[in-house]
Amino acid sequence: MHHPCRLGERKNENMAAIVINGAQWGDEGKGKATDILGGHVDFVCKPNGGNNAGHTVVVNGEKYELKLLPAGILTPNVTPVIGNGVVVNLEALFQEIDGLESRGADCSRLRISSNAHLVGPYHQTIDKVTERFLGKRAIGTTGRGIGPCYADKVNRIGIRVQDLFDESILRQKVEGTLRSKNELLVKLYNRPAFDVDEMVDYFLQYRDRIAPMVCDTSLLLNQALDEGKSVLMEGGQATMLDVDHGTYPFVTSSNPSAGGACVGSGIGPTRISHAVGIIKAYTTRVGAGPFPTELFDESGEYLRETGHEYGVVTKRPRRCGWFDGVVAEYATRINGFTDMFVTKLDVLTGIKEIPVCVAYEVDGKRFDHMPESQSDFHHAKPIYEMLPGWTEDITGARTFDELPENAQNYMKRLEELCGTRVSYIGVGPGRDENVVINDLVAEIKGC
Ligand code: GDP
Ligand code: IMO
Ligand code: MG
Repeated sequence: MHHPCRLGERKNENMAAIVINGAQWGDEGKGKATDILGGHVDFVCKPNGGNNAGHTVVVNGEKYELKLLPAGILTPNVTPVIGNGVVVNLEALFQEIDGLESRGADCSRLRISSNAHLVGPYHQTIDKVTERFLGKRAIGTTGRGIGPCYADKVNRIGIRVQDLFDESILRQKVEGTLRSKNELLVKLYNRPAFDVDEMVDYFLQYRDRIAPMVCDTSLLLNQALDEGKSVLMEGGQATMLDVDHGTYPFVTSSNPSAGGACVGSGIGPTRISHAVGIIKAYTTRVGAGPFPTELFDESGEYLRETGHEYGVVTKRPRRCGWFDGVVAEYATRINGFTDMFVTKLDVLTGIKEIPVCVAYEVDGKRFDHMPESQSDFHHAKPIYEMLPGWTEDITGARTFDELPENAQNYMKRLEELCGTRVSYIGVGPGRDENVVINDLVAEIKGC
């Protein structure tokens, strides 16, 4: 909405941007949350990550697995946007688009930032060989070349979407980036070199198809906000995988936190009204790295099987453990979460007593907050509180009162530990299978 302005009057009062971030190690159900909230906004922007993400959305019983595309792509009337902070594998992008379009989805509204970086086949090769060379210290990456592509970006030798439209610049950049990579691949890793001409042709084959989608997405999104429209930023990965705030080096190479979403979309922090943390009622992790509440017994197996905890991208079984209140509080702090969407409460149904981690013990010392030192975090032993479980089927609950008393108490304790209000509780994978406590859709519309 445009107001006639006086000098000194605040101009960006419309704060209709909302950001969603994972609060644990990924796969919290961000796709589902975006699908629900995204149905009521005008734009859904993916600000970080690439096809390492895997978001499951269940619409009318049909399952969709989104990787590079924002979950908003499934919602009619929403403009899905791939922001500048994303790393784009063009081959994977068009495969995904073709897959969705063959199922009747319309991807023609998709917009892609001209500043987004491109993932090349050489990034994937480097990802795989460096992992192999790390041996026991391997990160357990998704092998999609995400880390090497972000490394090129920060090294200032990356190739961006806009380079596709200037062939001589593209060739210069491909030559520049392959010079050092080929040395490394051939001499250190004993792999064949990549050919410059072949790589230029590889990128150019997608130019005409991507051309109509490319634009200045920061301008697009900010103009939309100026006009009173709403934007949802759907962070990939999660806080504990953030390259700055996560369990480094067992992290991804972007900033999947609320601040990172601003950078990765070109939307300033003053335009955000809600930062929503997505968190499972227990914890999972794929890949290597510390995980204090991890279970190695039949309880872990129970959570994995009941919660169908297998990766969308790599199909790896997810490591499973109890809810970690220290991680939850940390994620609220790093992201400034205004709300929590707790998913998968239904998976805990039938467990007699549910342990919840409220603090850590490291070498006899109690930590109520995230230890500052990585070594301490690696040695952290969870201090558990035991909460009574419930046996009633909760998948039909839609209001808090409809949950059994013990499930209500479990959620109250989780809210205390998160340190911010719980607004949604997921009780099943379907779009409508949620308990709604605060209707954020109404709040966003009121902004
Ligand atoms: P994302 O990467 O954060 O989008 O999450 P994933 O899609 O990788 O993993 C979350 C999984 O949990 C998916 O299979 C969802 O369908 C499922 N899911 C989401 N919310 C709920 C819920 O409340 N209950 C149950 N049972 N499943 C859920
Ligand atoms: P969504 O968006 C869970 C993990 C990998 C590995 C580490 C680095 O579905 O929640 P990368 O390939 O990014 O360099 O791998 O990060 N990882 C994820 N784990 N969910 C994800 O995405 C992930 N994306 C990356 O398993 O440990
Ligand atoms: Mg996932």
